[in-house]
Amino acid sequence: MQAAASNIEDFNPDVPYKLDRNLALEMVRVTEAAAVACSKWIGMGDSDAADQAAVDAMRTALNSIDVTGTVVIGEGERDQAPMLYIGEKVGLGSGPVVDIALDPLEGTSICAKAAPNALAVVAMAEEGGFLNAPDVYMDKIAVGPGLPEGVIALENSTEANLKNVAKAKGVDVSDLLVVVLERDRHSKLVADLRQAGARVQLIGDGDVAGIIAATRPETGVDMYMGIGGAPEGVLAAAALACVGGQMQGRLIFEQSGEGDQTIDDAQKENARRMGITDLNRVYTRKELARGDVMFSATGVTSGWMLDGVRRYPGGATTHSLVTRTRTGTARFVHTEHNFRIKKEV
Ligand code: FBP
Repeated sequence: MQAAASNIEDFNPDVPYKLDRNLALEMVRVTEAAAVACSKWIGMGDSDAADQAAVDAMRTALNSIDVTGTVVIGEGERDQAPMLYIGEKVGLGSGPVVDIALDPLEGTSICAKAAPNALAVVAMAEEGGFLNAPDVYMDKIAVGPGLPEGVIALENSTEANLKNVAKAKGVDVSDLLVVVLERDRHSKLVADLRQAGARVQLIGDGDVAGIIAATRPETGVDMYMGIGGAPEGVLAAAALACVGGQMQGRLIFEQSGEGDQTIDDAQKENARRMGITDLNRVYTRKELARGDVMFSATGVTSGWMLDGVRRYPGGATTHSLVTRTRTGTARFVHTEHNFRIKKEV
């Protein structure tokens, strides 16, 4: 293990600054719009309608900002997703050239059930800053900032990872809280974590929030482990690129992700078309999201770090986190939206 990992060592401060800091505030408007739009569907049991509302609003908001953007992590391939598909050009076409990773509603089922931690998420980077991850699963492990480089590794046993993190934090393994998606595929992981003495917080959905939670002391979360979506892995890595933290991810080409071991050849072929040459590669955070990165998330439902949208007659409040690699500042933005003046989104 080396010295504490930093989030600012992977770009050169002498290189002219391409992503103006005001763009970060524009990004908050984008995630706020998506969150407010889908908030009408919180608890309504209709995840598709919630997602569609978020997609429509995010796309409209993105197309009003001054970037020449290409969606690289989006709603799916062009033939599956009519809007915000991979490769779609967004923005006014006049500002900086950026790659965009987005999830208008991360946690569609969470929103439908009014459960915690649904988010609207957007990240931007200079061209080529994000891994163009296919829509497959990814095995992930993540911790927050301030720990020695290499403290976690997917190739290590669960027990070894726990021991290394506990040692680096100066605590016992029994003090560690690890977030894991509640899925059948994780039964061995959860058993191993508990066997080693760690505490496990099982979440129904939403591993972007789960990974960011590991970077925030107020959540009590120390680590994230397990298999979730690869696009969500890139989004989480974008957040960590800004606020710090370590992460590794390896693509999983199984049909169900539930450990049935049925290798999906079509998924592999698709990944190759997207430029993935080594299908077994373990990606570091810096290989998932690198260079100048900006990240914004707005809470749809309340969770670890963000309050959800609160609607009231004539308006709504939102709570967002916006951050960028250049400074590592995590800015929490509370906004009051006035529907009486601005037509409701
Ligand atoms: P959606 O917003 O697309 O529903 O994703 C929710 C989510 O829980 C992600 O956070 C996670 O990465 C992924 O689904 C896990 O996939 P699965 O539900 O198939 O295990």
